[in-house]
Order: sequence, then structure tokens, then C-alpha cells
Amino acid sequence: MSRITISDLAAWKKSGKKWAMLTSYEQMTASIFDQADIPVLLVGDSAGNNFLGEENTIPVTMDELIPLARAVVRGSERAFVVADLPFGSYEPGPELALANGIRFFKEAKVQAVKLEGGEKVAPQIRALVAAGIPVMGHLGLTPQSVHALGGFKVQGRGEDAARILKDAKAVETAGAFALVLELVPAELAIQITQELSIPVIGIGAGNGCDAQVLVWTDLMGITEGAPKLAKAYRNLRAEMIGAAKEWARDVESAEFPGAEQTFH
Ligand code: KIV
Repeated sequence: MSRITISDLAAWKKSGKKWAMLTSYEQMTASIFDQADIPVLLVGDSAGNNFLGEENTIPVTMDELIPLARAVVRGSERAFVVADLPFGSYEPGPELALANGIRFFKEAKVQAVKLEGGEKVAPQIRALVAAGIPVMGHLGLTPQSVHALGGFKVQGRGEDAARILKDAKAVETAGAFALVLELVPAELAIQITQELSIPVIGIGAGNGCDAQVLVWTDLMGITEGAPKLAKAYRNLRAEMIGAAKEWARDVESAEFPGAEQTFH
């Protein structure tokens, strides 16, 4: 089975087909979401707070993300897999960005990388793209800059909208194939989606974008205190707690293992 490509995503932008991207941090969810026909999987640095037990994305390293990305690639057959360049792995300059993009390509075999920022990281985007590494941009609330932004707040309200629009155009001009817009007013997201020729993927950016992304643990109701931008389609936390308790009770009462799980 061949994977989705950036050409498919570009064609969907032209035809107006909306699509979904989900985070995945290991092989099981990668194979489940692949079977669910989710076309793009993001090995996000949100692995920090959703998988590695960190408070936010800032401490996440390349060495931590590479095995997760490798597992997501191994667990999927059809999805286009994007890995997040973590904080500190690209800001110092294009050379470091390229070295880390190459690591993701060779060691995890992902199909693209994502980085946060606009005009300031345009040289990094150009270097990666020139080397054959597709780049997804990320603007608005950029979690790696949460301290500089003063918290998880909506970005691009009022006059600040012009800054985000300018950055979005810089990301496109530098050669990115897609752009994530996080926590920005829906009206601004619509304007950027209309003015850019690359797909715009929203999260907390209204429903006017070309695509939507969610953190999988938010979607499935596993995250405690999930952000307002997310919608839980299931309550897997309650389901899993229930199943674990039921099994432990069966162990205590010697009902597990039963005859079917017993060998003679
Ligand atoms: O790391 C992540 O999960 C992300 C998405 C929220 C876009 O960057």
C-alpha cells in the first residue's frame, strides 16, 4: 500500500476536500488511525505532556522523539507521517535544522517535519526543503514559545492579525507544503486559508481551514483537563479505568484466568 503524499494534500486543497490529522506517539495508535483512514499522523512534541509525563513540550528532545516517530512509521502503511522538530533542534540556524531533519528521515523514516515560527525560521525551512525534506509550518499559539507568549492564549486578535498573516506568507514562500494554525480567531484562519495556496490545518482556529488536527488523547477522552479547543468523541479514560478494575476484581476472586485462558 502506498502512502499519502504532499501531492495528494495539494490536490485536496485545490478540490476543497477537507481532511484530518491526528497525533500518534507509538505503533498501536498509528495502526488504529491508519485503519481509520486518517491521512496524516503527527508525531507531535505534544508527546511531552501526553506521553512522556512532562509539563509541556519544551523539554522534549530529538533522542526522545526519534523512537516514537520510528514506531509510528512502522505501525502505519498509508498515512503520511510528520515529526515535530522539538524546541532547540532548529532555532539556532539552518544547519542544525537540516541535521535534525536528516536524522528524522534516516532514523525514523518519516515523510516530513514540522517546526514553529514564521519569517524568523524561513532560512531553516528553505534549507530543509532544498535537501528534499517537506516542511509543515506552525503559527498562532506556538507551544514551544508558551513562556514568551505569556501562556496558552488566543493569538492574532486585532492588530496582531497582520503579523500572523505576514508570517504565514513567509512560511509558504520559504517552501512549506502545509501550515498549522493554532488558537487564532476563526476569521483570521479563513483569511489565511484563502490567501495561501498550501493546505492550512486548524486547531482552535474555527472550521474554515482546509484540515483539522487534534491530539489523540484529547479526541478519545483520555486527557484530564483537555483544552477547550478539543472535543472528546469517546470517554476512553473511564472505559479503561472500568476495564482495569473489572479485571483486578476477577483476579482477586480467581475468576481470571478462566477455562479459555487456561492450558493443560
Ligand atoms: O505537538 C502537537 O501535537 C502539535 C499539534 C497540536 C498541532 O503541534
